[in-house]
Amino acid sequence: SKSIKLAILGLGTVGTGVLDLLKDNLKELKRRSGHDIVITQVGTRRQRDDIDPTIKQNSDLMAIAESDDVDIVVEVIGGMTVAKEVIIHAIKNGKHVVTANKALLAEHGNEIFALAEEHNVHVAYEAAVAGGIPIIKVLREALAANKIDWLTGIINGTGNFIMSEMRDKGRDFDDVLAEAQELGYAEADPTFDVEGIDAAHKLALLASIAFGIPLQFDKVYSEGITKITLQDVTYAEELGYRIKHLGFAVRRYDEQESDATDKKLTGIELRVHPTLIPEDKLLANVNGVKNAVLVNSHPLGQTLYYGDGAGAGATASAVMADVMDLIRVLTVKDGHHVPHLAFMPNQLSDTPVLAA
Ligand code: HSE
Repeated sequence: SKSIKLAILGLGTVGTGVLDLLKDNLKELKRRSGHDIVITQVGTRRQRDDIDPTIKQNSDLMAIAESDDVDIVVEVIGGMTVAKEVIIHAIKNGKHVVTANKALLAEHGNEIFALAEEHNVHVAYEAAVAGGIPIIKVLREALAANKIDWLTGIINGTGNFIMSEMRDKGRDFDDVLAEAQELGYAEADPTFDVEGIDAAHKLALLASIAFGIPLQFDKVYSEGITKITLQDVTYAEELGYRIKHLGFAVRRYDEQESDATDKKLTGIELRVHPTLIPEDKLLANVNGVKNAVLVNSHPLGQTLYYGDGAGAGATASAVMADVMDLIRVLTVKDGHHVPHLAFMPNQLSDTPVLAA
């Protein structure tokens, strides 16, 4: 068995969440992968004294990205400039990359993925969309045999948290936003959350995988939640509706064509904005920091994915799921990297099943 060497760049909410996850679950991850997993370096501006002393703390991110003792670079710094430079440097040095950076990928993903292709490495980004919900894997793997017609969903946890608290507790917008920042839900610049920009980044990523199109963040119509008042929420309620901020990615067909099996695709619609939803719908009842994505695909039909859309644990879960995939890329010889078994055959547990 090998020793897989990780570098974690950035020790904010997500980076710290990854360290905590490994503290709790490392044994389990070793059993699943059949390999040892070691964090060799963390990229941090300030030295931290609360980190395992065997991990090298390094403020020179470019040096980490080319270091021989790193197989996988986990970028959880966020933002554009530094993150982009360091990811490009890591790719050019043959490192696989895991990132939670939806802003960067939505804006520069086409270029970054092409570069990764050229250097024969992977850039994995499950954590970039809908926090802990494995929606990227769903679209890429679980629904791989379907044709996806549309998807819609609540894809910003901070915004949904704000709207839920306003409705349920009559709380003030700014007050809830401040709490979302404290809880580590919000972006470094929270206007991204409340102005629909974060949701638009995520929608561009989802649409690109669902429909097999290049990333086109600039084509997403986006509107946030800042104009929603408590009064809007209350009136909607009286009429039997909830206001939710939704993203929509929809294949549009020529409505004139009568033959349903051979409709002409006219284009793809990408938009994020507040929407009235009848209160008995599942999406209307997704509250707090939860996200949910509803996918309509053929022949499966509608499926719904639900879970925490932000926060340390949820995001770390998605980051490390990508790391687990990449460990298979690095260690399985015949090129298969989607696992057949969830655990290695020689790692099955003898824990007894309790009598009913
Ligand atoms: N700020 C984001 C949100 C974090 O609230 O959804 C998760 O992508």
